[in-house]
Amino acid sequence: MASSTAFHLLVLFLLSTIQSPTNANLEGDALYALRRAVKDPGHVLQSWDPTLTDPCTWFHVTCDGDNRVTRLDLGNAKLSGSLVPELGKLVRLQYLELYMNELVGPIPRELGNLKSLVSLDLYHNNLTGTIPASLSKLSNLKFLRLNGNRLTGRIPRELTKLGSLKILDVSNNDLCGTIPTSGSFSKLTEESFVNNSRLEGPELVGFVRYNAAGSCK
Ligand SMILES: *[C@@H]1O[C@H](CO)[C@@H](O)[C@H](O)[C@H]1NC(C)=O
Ligand SMILES: *[C@@H]1O[C@H](CO)[C@@H](O)[C@H](O)[C@H]1NC(C)=O
Repeated sequence: MASSTAFHLLVLFLLSTIQSPTNANLEGDALYALRRAVKDPGHVLQSWDPTLTDPCTWFHVTCDGDNRVTRLDLGNAKLSGSLVPELGKLVRLQYLELYMNELVGPIPRELGNLKSLVSLDLYHNNLTGTIPASLSKLSNLKFLRLNGNRLTGRIPRELTKLGSLKILDVSNNDLCGTIPTSGSFSKLTEESFVNNSRLEGPELVGFVRYNAAGSCK
């Protein structure tokens, strides 16, 4: 009886070690989901081997002392395909650099979970859909460059809450509605918003009501 209990405990212990992957493992899986979702004709992701315990030895990936991912440097890498929601699991990520590729599809709202993010550079791709309001949760974000895509819809007013924001560039998209002017947006110039032919200009606080619920065409 006693030995069978001990045996059961041993089995449970072994199962628990199998079923609780480390954070580094989870981050490797998240990055591998991106590898699977994109075409990589330049083989820049060739070193991304999912059988390794953490992704810190992979090219274009940088980790901190705890083997957690802090940077993803894949600008100008000829990647096509789409972003994946799994990227939102990289909670220590500070730099997400995926500019100048041929990425299509939406910006996953899960990127709003990247609470350490300082720089989100997705400019010059072919991303569509709206700018997720969830990005307003990125309290450390300084650089948000989404210019040169095919993004539509309104600029989420919530983004004015981004207290650390230094540079915003949403120029050269297909955004519409008015431009929020409060909070962190008060320091931005027109240049951040140019070449969105349906964008109506700055909202006049107190005069024009920002109609977040209405759609704009
Ligand atoms: C975006 O898509 C258009 C139309 O399919 C294409 O001509 C253009 O080269 C693409 N741009 C990028 C950066 O992939
Ligand atoms: C706006 O679009 C025009 C025409 O495509 C282009 O020449 C110009 O450089 C763009 N401006 C910015 C700031 O990107």
